[in-house]
Amino acid sequence: MKIIMLGAPGAGKGTQAKMIADKYGIPHVSTGDIFRANIKNGTQLGMEAKQYMDKGLLVPDELTVKILLDRVAQDDCKNGYVLDGFPRTIPQAEVLDKALGELGEKIDYAIDVDVPDENIVKRMGGRRACLSCGATYHIEHVPPKKEGICDVCGQELVLRDDDKPETVQNRLNVYHEQTQPLIEFYQAKGVLKTVDGTRDMKDVFAAITAILEA
Ligand code: AP5
Ligand code: MG
Repeated sequence: MKIIMLGAPGAGKGTQAKMIADKYGIPHVSTGDIFRANIKNGTQLGMEAKQYMDKGLLVPDELTVKILLDRVAQDDCKNGYVLDGFPRTIPQAEVLDKALGELGEKIDYAIDVDVPDENIVKRMGGRRACLSCGATYHIEHVPPKKEGICDVCGQELVLRDDDKPETVQNRLNVYHEQTQPLIEFYQAKGVLKTVDGTRDMKDVFAAITAILEA
């Protein structure tokens, strides 16, 4: 099963992707998490990506596409995966399509987690992220057991550099300009499914599993 999570920054793509990955035993592949891990480890890729991410801009396709294609070529992705944050531009989607086509494969579902901009800005300030394992929390909706510490790996939780209100607005603008057109792209391919992302995260997940098990 190959799934793409679509949706604005903060819509809950990562939250839902993680739940899908756990339930169906497929890897959760997040380009944002891959970049943040590289930033944390001080790699060349991380340093390049950070310049764009901190401004709320997209990392150029040349850097992003190769990383994603290498990742999904790994053994653990053989039975499928859930992509979170990729593709984010029409050219990225076309490259993915072509690469899959050459293997006789295709995307099964593109799930759009739909949340209006005004809800997003409120959510982001409360998010806390673990830069080591990618786990995501919310100080009100999903608090960690111990304040400021990741339940999964025990590392410190942080407010992401790109979650400042002015950067969030830039990310939303970039989303509407460059990523939202993917909704039509996948609709035309007959794989688009939309879920209401403003509901409680368990309800959002129930809607997604209903789609995947229909
Ligand atoms: P990325 O890491 O992908 O960030 P994003 O798309 O901006 O999305 P977020 O991770 O902010 O939100 P999310 O939808 O995962 O929501 P979450 O589940 O955390 O990308 C970051 C940057 O990397 C980009 O700006 C770009 O620079 C670069 N990048 C990455 N991929 C790229 C690509 N392919 N091409 C180019 N550049 C790329 O939820 C948000 C919060 O809300 C959390 O606190 C969560 O607990 C809470 N929450 C979730 N669901 C609910 C709910 N139903 N009700 C209440 N609260 C909820
Ligand atoms: Mg995310």
